[in-house]
Amino acid sequence: MKGIILAGGKGTRLYPLTKITNKHILPVGKEPMIFNPIKQLISVGIKDILIVTSREHMGALVNLLGSGREFGCSFTFKVQDEPKGIADALLLGENFAGGDSIVVILGDNIASHSIKPYVEKFENQDIGAKVLLKEVNEPHLFGIAALDETKIVKIQEKPDKPESNYAVIGIYMYDNNVFDIIRKIDYSLRGELEITSVNNEYIKRNQLTYDILRGYWTDAGTFETYKLANEILFNIDNKIISGDE
Ligand code: TTP
Repeated sequence: MKGIILAGGKGTRLYPLTKITNKHILPVGKEPMIFNPIKQLISVGIKDILIVTSREHMGALVNLLGSGREFGCSFTFKVQDEPKGIADALLLGENFAGGDSIVVILGDNIASHSIKPYVEKFENQDIGAKVLLKEVNEPHLFGIAALDETKIVKIQEKPDKPESNYAVIGIYMYDNNVFDIIRKIDYSLRGELEITSVNNEYIKRNQLTYDILRGYWTDAGTFETYKLANEILFNIDNKIISGDE
């Protein structure tokens, strides 16, 4: 199992903070934002981590993170030339994955508790993918999972009439078929390769499982959620909580 952190994108909703700085370098609690997804992968036991970011911010991220020695892991870096979407960034990880399954975390997703239990469940899954859900107050702002008793029936991107309050968060687990799937999906109206299209293809194949994430979670991509992310990480001193705490 390998880890991929996607830290490209434009970060426009945090302007002017992100005018010259990559969003994932901004402080959250006492550390740069990207430390939380890195620690999350390490809490699972993943030691091989790919960081994807934009051309303009690669230098800063390499300066910040180095080889990974200080974290006890090994970093690989890849440039996404243009911010053409989360699935486009993920496609850059094909050679790195080298046939293994992957855990993918969006670099602006902040979580308090280790995802280890869910990754262990995924490892027992022969094939397919797993997404993590969290109940949210404003479902029209998220990719929302419509559920029946046992499974996700479909995922709707920012729906006008949400069928649940369960958002698909930016932590995903995929088998190696994900790269073939990404090559088959179309660009969305906003000109991006959408991760929701990838997850909906796994639903079509009846190969998508889900779990509901315990603990605190937020993305940190707007001023409101950035503030919440700071509160969460100050409260836990930037540590990842494992076990049943
Ligand atoms: P978003 O928050 O959807 O996009 P963004 O970071 O460009 O921000 P904004 O909408 O405010 O302009 O992306 C979520 C995460 O996905 C982000 O933290 C980094 C990653 N990402 C990429 O790596 N490449 C991309 O092309 C995009 C769109 C996002």
